[in-house]
Amino acid sequence: MSKTAKARIHELTEQILHHDHCYYVLDQPEISDAAYDRLFRELQELEEAYPQLRLPYSPTQRVGGKPLDEFAKLKHGLPMLSLANALTEEELFAFDERVHRFLDLSPKENLEYFCELKFDGLSINLQYQDGLLISAATRGDGEVGEDVTQNIKTIRSIPLKLDTPSPPRFIEIRGEILLPIKDFDQLNEEQLSRGQKTFANPRNAAAGSVRQLDASIAASRPLTGFFYGMGSSQGVKFARMSEFEDQLEAWGFRVGKNRRVCEGASAVLKFYREIEKKRDSLPFEIDGVVVKLNRLDHLDRAGAVSRSPRGMIAFKYPPRQESTTIEDIIVQVGRTGALTPVAIVKPVRLGGATIRRATLHNQDEIDRKDIRIGDRVLIQRAGDVIPEVVQVIFESRKGNEKKFKLPNACPVCESPVERKPGEAVARCTSRNCIAQLKERLRHLVMKDALNIEGLGEKIIEQLVDNGLVRHPAELFQITKTDLLELEGFADKSSQNLIDAIANARSPELYRLIFGLGIRHVGEATAKNLARSFGSMERLIQSQEAELLEVDEIGPEMARSVVEYFSHPENRHELESLLKLIRPIVPKKVSAGSALAGKTLVLTGTLPNLSRSDATRLIEENGGKVSSSVSKNTHYVVAGEEAGSKLEKAQALGVEILDEKGLLSLIGRG
Ligand code: IVH
Repeated sequence: MSKTAKARIHELTEQILHHDHCYYVLDQPEISDAAYDRLFRELQELEEAYPQLRLPYSPTQRVGGKPLDEFAKLKHGLPMLSLANALTEEELFAFDERVHRFLDLSPKENLEYFCELKFDGLSINLQYQDGLLISAATRGDGEVGEDVTQNIKTIRSIPLKLDTPSPPRFIEIRGEILLPIKDFDQLNEEQLSRGQKTFANPRNAAAGSVRQLDASIAASRPLTGFFYGMGSSQGVKFARMSEFEDQLEAWGFRVGKNRRVCEGASAVLKFYREIEKKRDSLPFEIDGVVVKLNRLDHLDRAGAVSRSPRGMIAFKYPPRQESTTIEDIIVQVGRTGALTPVAIVKPVRLGGATIRRATLHNQDEIDRKDIRIGDRVLIQRAGDVIPEVVQVIFESRKGNEKKFKLPNACPVCESPVERKPGEAVARCTSRNCIAQLKERLRHLVMKDALNIEGLGEKIIEQLVDNGLVRHPAELFQITKTDLLELEGFADKSSQNLIDAIANARSPELYRLIFGLGIRHVGEATAKNLARSFGSMERLIQSQEAELLEVDEIGPEMARSVVEYFSHPENRHELESLLKLIRPIVPKKVSAGSALAGKTLVLTGTLPNLSRSDATRLIEENGGKVSSSVSKNTHYVVAGEEAGSKLEKAQALGVEILDEKGLLSLIGRG
């Protein structure tokens, strides 16, 4: 009996996976829903009777297990990079020119570009071992993401097993998880009727669904995905992007149908315009087209700059515009006290989202555009940014519209408002303004800063409004008893928040620097500052001249840092904070380090070190990792399947090391 059960389980598994593919990928079901359900139920029953016979890629395993407490971290085999943007035709041609230069090709020669849609979703990295899906991770910081395997398995267009008898030993497949617009609308309606919060746009809805600890919620959302990229791999090689995507399709992935090899930038432009015409009739959101060198040896040779491949670009569409009416203008107070006038508009759909507010930036903008309450206006929204009012539709003016002036007193704390000469922004002059405090706290606990999970806007409001947190340090002194007094807190939720806060007590130094919310200091700058100064104490003492020596720091940032620490209130706030949290200091690089002043290039797969481990090791020893080989390269570290970079190194006579050679160079051999 068990032999026939085994054969039947195998047969049913394969059949159901096939029908999933027909229905969810090809959009061409071959059997009725009822017939599909029968197959599914038969498989479930057999698997229940013979659990040991269940195949690891069984479709019954798509449902997801117990809800998780938190997501595990998962390291990508190769980093997930981002894309540089082109916003105009000129920028596209400039990109084409740049690529020619990097590849040392005559501008007359047309490059072969692979063009496809830029899906506006959540990027994901799938790992397949011997053809079976073993993990799925979000992008995270590009190196390490969150393990969302349980949720991703519920997406039935994603193959649990590659459709081939000879799969690669290992491969990372990258793509975008999306929620189609129609399903997004329906989801929001359901959320409303259940009294739950609605999502701002399809991308947020997709991201929110994938990042559910309870996989049954993800399973209930009609998510889908498109795939387009490869990370690390063993046992496969492709010559062209077009060939790779055809293979993806053959393996059973959903790949955008709108894809084309274009000869030269003019052909790319033609593709871009064709897609623009189709954009509104697509069932999902796109925000541009992606243009990639089709020849993978070219792509590799072009290398990368600041985490974006030089041989690819996102050619974006201009922001969508819509008209609506301004019902009111309110004033928001930001982290640094800046007063921002915001238009409350009649809700309007724009690029897959419902817009209710749009920024007016500042008083000068309002005056320049002559915006009044009651005006019919054009608003626009580009990607993730806050929607803005572009212009008034003057033909619609009736005459009863009301002019607006920013108040002279802060709308929250009533302190005087000041506008420095030469600045467009008016600011609340009080340091004790609770609106500012709330914003400062929000910034401090953000994902890229102290990353205190579960401490959202609402809870910050509660903590501040109830007087529990009067300055950032007090966040680290809240007790469970404090929380239990607040509305909406139960035993478990209080404990979770207390734990999350406790976990944030030893952040990496750059996270704290970024979290302070110093004007002009973003995450990348914070990293550079942390690396150069090595401690908060040294950064506090820094002078403008010293700051200007730091990588990528210009005069405006340098001035802003000095100015920030020149305020006794800021110093005092930070000192109290440093009594309760202890930032981790990056390893120091001394001038005598083995690789000080040396530039290295990594290529191929090293036997033991992942690419990011090797990078970290090199950087810890004072070296710099670059993505392309030139005469300024000191060493190329080559592993298995090293490609054109190795050839170039040989041609230029650059010294070549293997993993062992690298380790012995830094005294770890
Ligand atoms: S290729 C180096 N192709 O856009 C990254 N990305 O803005 C290579 N995206 O992180 C990505 N559609 O999440 C590529 N057809 C497409 C894409 C695409 C959407 C996303 C991807 C990437 C982001 C960059």
